[in-house]
Amino acid sequence: MSSFPERRLRRTRRTPAMRRLSTEHHLAAAQLVLPVFVKEGIDAAQPIASMPGVMQHPLADIAAVVADAAEAGIGGVMLFGVPAVRDAEGSGAVADDGILNRAIRVARDTARGAVTVQADLCLDEFTDHGHCGLLAADGSVDNDATLEVYARMAVAQARAGAEVLGLSGMMDGQVAVIRAALDAAGHTDVALLAYSAKYASAFYGPFRDAVESTLQGDRRTYQLDPANGREGVAEAMQDIAEGADYVMVKPAGPYLDVLARVADAATVPVWAYQVSGEYAMIELAARAGAIDRERAIGESLLGIRRAGADVILTYWAREVADWLRSGKEIA
Ligand code: PBG
Repeated sequence: MSSFPERRLRRTRRTPAMRRLSTEHHLAAAQLVLPVFVKEGIDAAQPIASMPGVMQHPLADIAAVVADAAEAGIGGVMLFGVPAVRDAEGSGAVADDGILNRAIRVARDTARGAVTVQADLCLDEFTDHGHCGLLAADGSVDNDATLEVYARMAVAQARAGAEVLGLSGMMDGQVAVIRAALDAAGHTDVALLAYSAKYASAFYGPFRDAVESTLQGDRRTYQLDPANGREGVAEAMQDIAEGADYVMVKPAGPYLDVLARVADAATVPVWAYQVSGEYAMIELAARAGAIDRERAIGESLLGIRRAGADVILTYWAREVADWLRSGKEIA
């Protein structure tokens, strides 16, 4: 109390202009990335029931989606494929004519450098069992056998024109193995985004609808325990040592402490993924009249930024870019 009334913290909050003067964190369209789902074998976009406002797109939509993202000035599109056929090895992931690799090619040809083309590198959308890797005879996920497939998937994605590969499978050693495979194939310029601190989260629920996941069980033998913070930092440090160009924390909102710790420790840019469940919670609460949708979106994104994210993957990237362009007040 000794410094009152000399130090009145309300002084700088008095008017909108005064508040703008002391705003510590801003959102920028260039640092928002839009996840995009492309589904094989459909001819019109289909809504995803648990993610109101998000669609599964046919390949024929991808050029328009990418052109629109570029025009809006967002930083990138992260492509996810939903194949028509799945098998035990996830062969659709490595095939040049697999749905994801075809979408990357279309995106690359449309983007022409105006927006970055990014691709999810994981087997879960392509395997019939829904796990992120190959299964051993005992049903466990075989880390090292999976790495060989990831290496081939990475080269196929790079060949198709992806500029940033999103390594979301949580296999040990994936960054090092993929970096070596890309370099050996001449793709030294393709950047690696390591989903380093990826937690075994209930907040991926709606995404599993979006990619029509066949997973039985869970991913707790490879994704992180939600109770552990230090281990998330260790994963990020390990990925940087293996050559990651960016590290990510995922989900974002429930893991802001991990994000802040990774941001303190990292020597590369730090990304955060505001996942499908975080999206659905706000959309559905707003539809129920419980919260102000736009302010809640803005506040959720500013919280992620304040915790230390440089780049945010968010299903609202496109909409928020419009808000920023029109000068709308965020949150
Ligand atoms: C794995 C992957 C997942 C998400 C992104 N990449 C799902 C999982 O690990 O189960 C989730 C994204 C979201 O929930 O929005 N390919």
